[in-house]
Amino acid sequence: MENIPIAVLASGRGSNFQAILDAIDAGECSADVKVFITDNPEAKAIERAQSKNIPVEIIDKREIKDREQFDLELKKKLDGYKVELVVLAGYMRIIKSKELLDSYKYKIINIHPSLLPAFKGTTHAQHEAYDYGCKVSGLTIHFVTDDVDGGPIIYQEAVDISDCSSGDEVAAKIIKHEHKAYPKVVDSFAKGKYVVEGKHVRYIKK
Ligand code: GRF
Repeated sequence: MENIPIAVLASGRGSNFQAILDAIDAGECSADVKVFITDNPEAKAIERAQSKNIPVEIIDKREIKDREQFDLELKKKLDGYKVELVVLAGYMRIIKSKELLDSYKYKIINIHPSLLPAFKGTTHAQHEAYDYGCKVSGLTIHFVTDDVDGGPIIYQEAVDISDCSSGDEVAAKIIKHEHKAYPKVVDSFAKGKYVVEGKHVRYIKK
């Protein structure tokens, strides 16, 4: 089984990134992280990459303000590392460049902490689910397209949040599921392929 060469992008603490690294170490995720890329020079996730000797590329959001220019810089970096899958793991920027999206079509995935399309396009989905009084929320792993949080859905998992008494509790509960689900989905890219037909995603094992 060949490992799939991936890039991981994160802007903050990177606990999902760590879950992927741990799964790789445990032999449960057939991926090679060729590069870690961040827009935030202070991201905790940088240390996680460094501790595994993974190359780190920082594209400072304070230096490149223009979205298109930023994404083209990102594309250059990704092209250089020859990755087959780009994993967004708490990457807090919207990818807007058509050039980047077109050349990595159905090769960029994201994880969102709600059952999409509920709580789409927000960075506080867990708190909004709690405030709404939801009994069930969850997570969605989807392809990234120009429709923010609206790309074809690869995987979803429902999480019972009826016992939670704050948005923070909801977030803490859902993230545990994220940590299990994301490495499995990354692994599935090494073991087969996803075929996208409109909004529908079908999996074909190798
Ligand atoms: C996760 O909740 C993920 O669903 C969302 O951003 C958060 C990232 O957390 N996209 P972490 O940086 O992986 O800890």
